[in-house]
Amino acid sequence: MTVAVVGPGAIGTTIAAALYEGGASPMLCGRTPRDQLELRDGDDMVVVPGPVLVDPDAVDRTVDLAFLSVKATQTERARGWLEALCAPSTVVCVLQNGVEQEKSLGHLPHGRAVPAVVWFPAQTLPDGVVQLRGDARLTLPDEPAANVVVRALAGSRCAVDVSADFVSEAWRKLLQNAAAGLMALTHRRSGMFHRTDIDRLTTDYLRECLPVARAEGAALNEADALAIVDKFRGFPPDMGTSILADREAGRPLEWDVRNGVVQRLGRLHGIPTPISDVLVPLLAAASDGPG
Ligand SMILES: NC(=O)c1ccc[n+]([C@@H]2O[C@H](COP(=O)([O-])OP(=O)(O)OC[C@H]3O[C@@H](n4cnc5c(N)ncnc54)[C@H](OP(=O)(O)O)[C@@H]3O)[C@@H](O)[C@H]2O)c1
Repeated sequence: MTVAVVGPGAIGTTIAAALYEGGASPMLCGRTPRDQLELRDGDDMVVVPGPVLVDPDAVDRTVDLAFLSVKATQTERARGWLEALCAPSTVVCVLQNGVEQEKSLGHLPHGRAVPAVVWFPAQTLPDGVVQLRGDARLTLPDEPAANVVVRALAGSRCAVDVSADFVSEAWRKLLQNAAAGLMALTHRRSGMFHRTDIDRLTTDYLRECLPVARAEGAALNEADALAIVDKFRGFPPDMGTSILADREAGRPLEWDVRNGVVQRLGRLHGIPTPISDVLVPLLAAASDGPG
């Protein structure tokens, strides 16, 4: 199977390393040229040989499977890679947060897209090494395109589940991402969830998200929301989140796919979202300015 990773950042490097250990030589398609990718997982270091290609016009072959792991804010600019890499039979596995991966990707001239829930945290360290902070795991919908991903990562350090109720799993992760948006506003890591006021705000916010999730078909309840708050309290206090890393680096934030979506879909279903109505403009302004 021929495979490409478009967006060899924290998540892309983890997947590239898993593929490489399994015997594949993934084509690495990025924005910044590099000779190799490095993943640290506990005491293991996996070096994936490059180069990281940076010109989609130089691609001379299509692939069976492409992982798209750019930020949602970068998808438009990465489109040239997908146009170059996709044949009609190509599967594009979208490794992005949110519940609208296929919609955001829009029309693919060739190939079919399959969304994935990315459950693991990974972080690029200042020296460019990616550190995996948890067990690598993806969940995909139970559909034929997912089998290609299952085969590509079989036996690797990245587990792949397929779910007959992908909508619920995607919303479970979205609720986690929505809560993590608070960290981008406070510039604080997971330790902040030990504050009782933040605990209460997070709980109220997730209670607001739940009816929207259910209106979209997710089978989630109050206990699922409370489990997410507990999970944040259980994280190491220095555990960050990719939206906080983007905020600290002054990069655009994925505020719309992680938080704005709850407000947008709430409006569509006639569900009030008073907490989102405060959080979303703050996140949008923090991301996009002006000022
Ligand atoms: N990191 C996590 O723990 C985590 C966990 C779950 C889900 N996610 C989700 O996974 C997705 C990827 O996140 P990430 O943390 O891996 O992001 P990231 O580390 O910023 O990686 C994005 C990569 O895409 C590259 N890129 C940007 N524009 C490109 C273009 N036009 N063509 C090709 N490559 C391009 C970037 O290149 P440069 O090196 O030049 O910036 C970078 O290598 C996001 O939706 C995120 O929310 C992340």
